[in-house]
Amino acid sequence: MIETIKDHITKVEQFTATSKDEIENFRITYLGKKGLLNQFFAEFKNVASDQKKEYGQVINQLKTRATDKVNALKESLESNTVFEGKFGDLTRPGNPIPLGARHPISIVKNQIIDIFSRIGFNVSEGPEIEDDWHNFTALNLPEHHPARDMQDTFFIQTNPDILLRTHTSSVQVRYMEENKPPIRTISPGRVYRNEAISARSHCFFHQVEGLYVDKDVSFADLKQTLQYFTSEMFGKSKIRLRPSYFPFTEPSAEVDVYWGLETETDHKMTKGTGWLEIMGCGMVDPNVLKNCGIDPDIYSGFAFGMGIDRIALLQYQISDIRTLSENDVRFLNQFRSSW
Ligand code: PHE
Repeated sequence: MIETIKDHITKVEQFTATSKDEIENFRITYLGKKGLLNQFFAEFKNVASDQKKEYGQVINQLKTRATDKVNALKESLESNTVFEGKFGDLTRPGNPIPLGARHPISIVKNQIIDIFSRIGFNVSEGPEIEDDWHNFTALNLPEHHPARDMQDTFFIQTNPDILLRTHTSSVQVRYMEENKPPIRTISPGRVYRNEAISARSHCFFHQVEGLYVDKDVSFADLKQTLQYFTSEMFGKSKIRLRPSYFPFTEPSAEVDVYWGLETETDHKMTKGTGWLEIMGCGMVDPNVLKNCGIDPDIYSGFAFGMGIDRIALLQYQISDIRTLSENDVRFLNQFRSSW
């Protein structure tokens, strides 16, 4: 008999349960009114008197073990329930994480940065709120210069020396002031002009300007660099340079890329000519180099500047520039990209 009770003690110790019902059945089996313990207690009177002591000890042991077990199992089940309530079913597959999409401006900007970084250009940035010197004066546009009218500017009312930069050429000035040639840098960023907002133009947009200053930099270097860029960016290497004017470059040119006339869109985009204007460029005016502390007798350089928004409109056939800043998720969701 004592051996049977000892077996039960082992069984009780090994028992585990995952549900309330199992625990309750276990409790009834051992501790219930008609349970084993009561049966063993009832047997007590029939036990030989020399064994009564040991018998008493083992049934008491069985009783405490069974009671402890029931309590422990109940407790662990309850704490598991709380856990589940908090985190749900931990084996369930996770919720899908909604993937964002990069803004088309960022995609195009990153592509341009990547293309130029492959030929040794680094990225430089500067403030959007600029002073007159960096945005105009250092760039050969002294006060009252008629070229300042080309870019109607947002000035700070209380201090006309402070303005929202009209181009990222201001960053190039800062870069030349702080670095010695050889310089190879591109400056992406947001710029502002006081223009009426329409489908074609906005009062703010984005630019990437490039600057290369070293000994013996020539117009041929500029042309090769631009050709490399257009073939990498658009897959089109036929370009033409039309003479133009910028106060900070001499000579200056507008760059057109030959887009082709294969599709109806090509016709529409290029107004039937096949050519698309994509940027301005030129050889840095010696005055500008001087203003930035670089000796124009030793160094020469080229610069170029293009609008990122315009290129994004081209690349993605977007017809209204305003959609780029409206933050409509339905629009933005269409631009999934690894860039
Ligand atoms: N800064 C000029 C603009 O904003 C672009 C440009 C840059 C032209 C460098 C020539 C050289 O229009």
